[in-house]
Amino acid sequence: MKALPAHTRADTGALSSPGATPLSPIIRLASLCKTYRNAEVEVHAVRDVSLDIYAGDFVAIMGSSGSGKSTLMNILGCLDTPTTGTYELASTNVSTLSRKKLATLRNQKLGFVFQSFNLLSRTSALENVELPMFYSHPLISLETQRSRAREVLNKVGLAGRENHWPNQLSGGQQQRVAIARALVNHPQLLLADEPTGNLDSRTSIEIMGLFQALNASGITIVMVTHELEIAAYCKRVIMMRDGRVLSDTMNVERRSAEDEIAALDDAEGNTMKSV
Ligand SMILES: Nc1ncnc2c1ncn2[C@@H]1O[C@H](COP(=O)(O)OP(=O)(O)OP(=O)(O)O)[C@@H](O)[C@H]1O
Ligand SMILES: [Mg+2]
Repeated sequence: MKALPAHTRADTGALSSPGATPLSPIIRLASLCKTYRNAEVEVHAVRDVSLDIYAGDFVAIMGSSGSGKSTLMNILGCLDTPTTGTYELASTNVSTLSRKKLATLRNQKLGFVFQSFNLLSRTSALENVELPMFYSHPLISLETQRSRAREVLNKVGLAGRENHWPNQLSGGQQQRVAIARALVNHPQLLLADEPTGNLDSRTSIEIMGLFQALNASGITIVMVTHELEIAAYCKRVIMMRDGRVLSDTMNVERRSAEDEIAALDDAEGNTMKSV
């Protein structure tokens, strides 16, 4: 991996060209700090983080337990606010927004994926995916919502499973439903906290393949992971320690999930033939 000086723009190669007007970042953090104050103790969960994330980026945030990854992701997702410093999301300083405006921004610009899928049980895949539109686009007809949800489920490889409940789907399929739900409002930015944490290794590669395809189609992704092998599918790796950014590097030799799945399929095919 090629080292970048911390806090500088990683050239994602996605949208920049020599002589082009510099793009404004989707995410701009300046001297961001988050301090939790309990009865007697202060926890400096995020300390003085400044970084830019541009359209087309695919960023892994790594670091040991307690290093501040989830705290940072919660701020990026407008679920929490910084103690000091600024966060600009799509050129909007989010700390100045009302709760209502923040919720609108979150609905329009962001999609969330979690380690434990967070699907509603006893609710079909289709209904799980329709749910965000119910809040963000209540005026869209139910038929349109339904056909949009079907389209996104198809995109994540779940055509034919629309009426299954979460407990009738594998872990990987449940995570695909969660990804479809995150995509249904056409977010600019997908935030994922340990999206492969509950999946076996082949399913993890498949989910990373889906993320790589979504990123290639223009969606910016920021993902927390504990695993170096998973971070190796991303374009950029930010390492945190004690709430600070320790390093910010480009992944020059990025893994291709699509190639690896094809190789696994070939190997399985060969094994079947020799049985
Ligand atoms: N609500 C809270 N109140 C007090 N301290 C908190 C709170 N949330 C997090 N912390 C503390 O902030 C620090 C960073 O926590 P955070 O959850 O961001 O770490 P993490 O890097 O996501 O860890 P993990 O890999 O275990 O998920 C930790 O020391 C944690 O104990
Ligand atoms: Mg965490």
